[in-house]
Amino acid sequence: MPGNSFGTHFRVTTFGESHGAALGVVIDGCPANIALDLDGIRADLARRRPGQSALVSPRKEADEFEIVSGFFEGRTLGTPLTFLFRNVDADDRTYRPLKDVYRPSHAEYTYEARYGHRDWRGGGRASARETIGRVAAGAVARQLLEELGVTIVAWVSAVGDVEAAHPETVDRDTVDASPVRCPDPSAAAQMEALIRSVRSEGDTIGGVVRARANGVPAGWGEPVFDKMDALLGMAMLSIPAAKGFESGSGFAGARMRGSAHNDAFINVAAPGEDPQIRTQTNHSGGVQGGISNGMPVEIAVAFKPVATIFQPQQTVDRSGEAATIEPRGRHDPCVVPRAVPIVEAMMALVLIDLALQAGHGPGGHSPGGHRTSRGV
Ligand SMILES: Cc1cc2nc3c(=O)[nH]c(=O)nc-3n(C[C@H](O)[C@H](O)[C@H](O)COP(=O)(O)O)c2cc1C
Repeated sequence: MPGNSFGTHFRVTTFGESHGAALGVVIDGCPANIALDLDGIRADLARRRPGQSALVSPRKEADEFEIVSGFFEGRTLGTPLTFLFRNVDADDRTYRPLKDVYRPSHAEYTYEARYGHRDWRGGGRASARETIGRVAAGAVARQLLEELGVTIVAWVSAVGDVEAAHPETVDRDTVDASPVRCPDPSAAAQMEALIRSVRSEGDTIGGVVRARANGVPAGWGEPVFDKMDALLGMAMLSIPAAKGFESGSGFAGARMRGSAHNDAFINVAAPGEDPQIRTQTNHSGGVQGGISNGMPVEIAVAFKPVATIFQPQQTVDRSGEAATIEPRGRHDPCVVPRAVPIVEAMMALVLIDLALQAGHGPGGHSPGGHRTSRGV
């Protein structure tokens, strides 16, 4: 069945189910002769892992990878680059009682309607474990983007009704210093308390992740269907549990007037130098007409409360008979702390794809072109 691949020039295909033998990703289109920083990739993966704090699913997976193709003597070959992750802590016991019933707001009913046969263990292919391949590919993309001067950081901006102050500047270390990945310390403490309290009631809660890419030059993005913001929207809404997407001012812009919303152009170059066009405000979120304008690219993603709650719930079984379930097992009470690296990865995949389409490839080797030995 199609639908497992994303991107055009840097095309990723993820594979695997939550409790199958292994998961992973194939990257088709990664430039050749790139010295990947494997520890950097491991560090990005560690941020997505379950079991990293008391606020997330306690499943214990080391998430160690094998690179089974496309990499030789420390450098990419330009051939399909494949990361493989073997599942080691796949315990399906708590899913057996749910084998023939549909968890409300999870993907069991729809997968069955689509395929007629599904892997009921741990959500199968619909599990957020699938995103491990996205984060591995995103880590490669991030290393390529850094060579182009682009950095991406995401953070938790809301959990339930608790909203963080919008930061002028934000970096990954500040985000990671908080277990909820919120750079506003006072909001972070309230978010943490809220997640703990919701979890003690066997319930779950939603939240918002915001992300910013600095250093994106003007001119990335393709009209008409491959607009940068359209691709970012598709990328973000493909993340499990993502329910809303905003580019720049997003839905708040609908309540504004043009006189307040317009981003005035300014030239920030010194007199006599080539013009450097920027905007005074950034309601456009760095994208106009689907093409980057040189300002930071800003987005937000809304995540719903996790479907699996530890409370009795009404549902039906495969034959349509009414049933009551009370799920158990290892679940996230709130996905947003773990969604931060996934949002960053998906943003990196969109940006590297558009960079390559715009002819802004990183150092390495392009066919018929100039060969370098630079790392990224
Ligand atoms: C990082 C992350 C962790 C998640 N953890 C869980 C979980 O523990 N239990 C659960 O029921 N859903 C979890 N989800 C959400 C489900 O995968 C998702 O709701 C399900 O596949 C249905 O898809 P939909 O919500 O996009 O419609 C998680 C999502 C993300 C992004």
